[in-house]
Amino acid sequence: MSRIAYVNGRYVPMRDAKVHIEDRGFQFADGVYEVCEVRGGRLIDERRHIERLQRSLKEIRIRMPMSVAALGVVLREMIARNRIGYGIVYLQVNRGVARRDHAFPSVPVTPSVIATARSLNLARNEASAGKGIAIISVPDNRWGRVDIKTVGLLPNVLARQAAIDQGAREAWFVDEDGLITEGASTNAWIVTPSGALVTRQADQAILRGITRTVVLDAIKAQGLTVEERAFSLDEARGAREAFVTSASQIVLPVVRIDGHAIGDGKPGPVAMALRREFYRYAEVS
Ligand code: PDD
Repeated sequence: MSRIAYVNGRYVPMRDAKVHIEDRGFQFADGVYEVCEVRGGRLIDERRHIERLQRSLKEIRIRMPMSVAALGVVLREMIARNRIGYGIVYLQVNRGVARRDHAFPSVPVTPSVIATARSLNLARNEASAGKGIAIISVPDNRWGRVDIKTVGLLPNVLARQAAIDQGAREAWFVDEDGLITEGASTNAWIVTPSGALVTRQADQAILRGITRTVVLDAIKAQGLTVEERAFSLDEARGAREAFVTSASQIVLPVVRIDGHAIGDGKPGPVAMALRREFYRYAEVS
């Protein structure tokens, strides 16, 4: 079955899914996106993802291309037409098509909207969670507004590739003060020797992950201690556990940082429990 994409109002086979070369998303990364998990053919945390999309659009002054309800229809059509049981839906909104000029088009253009969907392999994802992943650290060389989910991801691409080149799965960005900000496409967490869960405060230096928000709810509901603060690479190396969160991985244990084993070098019980518990706190629609 050929995959179906959504491109500016049409559902088309992947091979016909094309955007204009003067789309500002293509030329300037002038656009934003969301990735939403699909489980049992339903959307996980749709409301929060759409709210974050609206915030990202507002921050870079692109208008909402259609109503929230209409976006919901597109996402569901993508799930149905691609027969996704377990997987992800990707949604991108760009400023639109205009002759190349850095400033916004003087006559406003229609934002471009595209969506894709694909199945993920549940067994494979469970297996990597059961083993845990290795990560590396890299200097955070991104711009100052990574709280906006823009498609300008070149530093993230290079960081992830550096991780792959070193046999790891993810890279954690480290800021000028030696503090971890987040992963190339994940939020970063540790469990301290005394059992507190720590993740960086959601300011402009990280993306406020939807999974991060739901995991915070789960932690609070279970009466665990949580600290939203920055932590250093040294503190992470000495942590009892480490893990990453994102819509496509949920909670994924980290067992090595820069070749150094975390805890006993195996996925930790806190991370694994949060991974299991996650769907009790997520919204399914
Ligand atoms: N990445 N930080 C960054 C830089 C991210 O790109 C992501 C998501 C996250 C986690 O956010 P959430 O929990 O809302 O998925 C944190 C998506 C999955 C991606 O780019 O594929």
